[in-house]
Amino acid sequence: MKSYSIALIPGDGIGRDVTAAAWTVLETAARNFDFALAGAEFPWSSRFFKETGRMMPEDGIETLRGFDAILLGAVGWPAEVPDSVSLHGLLLPIRKAFVQYANIRPHRLLPGVTGPLRAENFDILCIRENTEGEYSGAGGRVHQGTLDEVAVETSIFTRAGVERILRFGFEQARTRRGKLASVTKSNAQKYSMVFWDEITRKLAADYPDIEVTSYHVDALAARMIMAPESLDVVVASNLFGDILTDIGAAIQGGLGYAASANINPDRSAPSMFEPVHGSAPDIAHLGIANPIATIWSGAMMLDHLGETAAAGRVMKAVEATTARGIGTTPDKDRTEAITAAVVESLT
Ligand code: NAI
Ligand code: MG
Repeated sequence: MKSYSIALIPGDGIGRDVTAAAWTVLETAARNFDFALAGAEFPWSSRFFKETGRMMPEDGIETLRGFDAILLGAVGWPAEVPDSVSLHGLLLPIRKAFVQYANIRPHRLLPGVTGPLRAENFDILCIRENTEGEYSGAGGRVHQGTLDEVAVETSIFTRAGVERILRFGFEQARTRRGKLASVTKSNAQKYSMVFWDEITRKLAADYPDIEVTSYHVDALAARMIMAPESLDVVVASNLFGDILTDIGAAIQGGLGYAASANINPDRSAPSMFEPVHGSAPDIAHLGIANPIATIWSGAMMLDHLGETAAAGRVMKAVEATTARGIGTTPDKDRTEAITAAVVESLT
């Protein structure tokens, strides 16, 4: 029997509840489809930081490297650990060390979920560059605390980095409806974004079957609201993708449904799957977190591992659940009840 080793990092707050929920669903799917999931749980979190002074042990990256995939809940507990510490101590190092350069986020309405738009028939796959660009971390501050203080933060775009994310976007478009929207702001940012547009045009020659359109990010933001059904695959830089995928989450009904995958397309290291949402301290102890975003992320993990049929079956079970009105109204259904309904329609 095929077996996959999965590193589980529940993290903080509702991360723990939604990871447990997704794991229950994934184990059920594995049983039904005759493969095994061997999970190993790591307590790396803000609590771990309070106890040890680190978000993960020094050899954390090396420990994770041996796994087939990582399933993460959420990290962050701003009342006790600054967000910049929790993010830079765990999530960002994993994404960078494992060259998870493609952050992919599907945006569509599940049956029974009411979104804020009149449009209901959209199906967008946002691909966000995940390792460089505006979040490269290059910069500094001088004369700190004085009136002369200066803060500089430089975006870094490399030819290799831009080419590989665009190529990934073209390839994804090929498996879907054949349309690619490349997002920049090349009217205002005349170096990095013009560079991105040039590479888009160059690669387009390799993909004559793909209809590619370049958009400015502000126009694309409006299009996601006004005409989301006109979009298929959207590929954007780290910052633009970050913002656009929050719009994506909003139009699909909210963070409870927004799934994501940090993919290493070369498979030279594990990929990481996580909901878009954070640890939700405001509802962390209530047992009402919606686990669907994490279950969906888990389905993306199965798909990445090659268990395509099981992944499809998990999504069918999620859709059957929301179609029954379970997990579609905030605060109505408990995490456990939503999970049980998904498991029930899986079996
Ligand atoms: P958040 O996503 O945790 O919560 C925003 C709002 O959405 C809250 O009102 C929350 O109750 C609600 N919400 C989120 N997920 C939900 C779910 N599954 N079901 C029902 N309601 C849900 O964002 P916030 O409050 O800005 O951040 C809280 C902490 O999480 C911070 O420390 C932040 O840095 C961290 N964070 C971590 C992320 C990660 O691990 N990838 C991503 C985003 C935030
Ligand atoms: Mg964001």
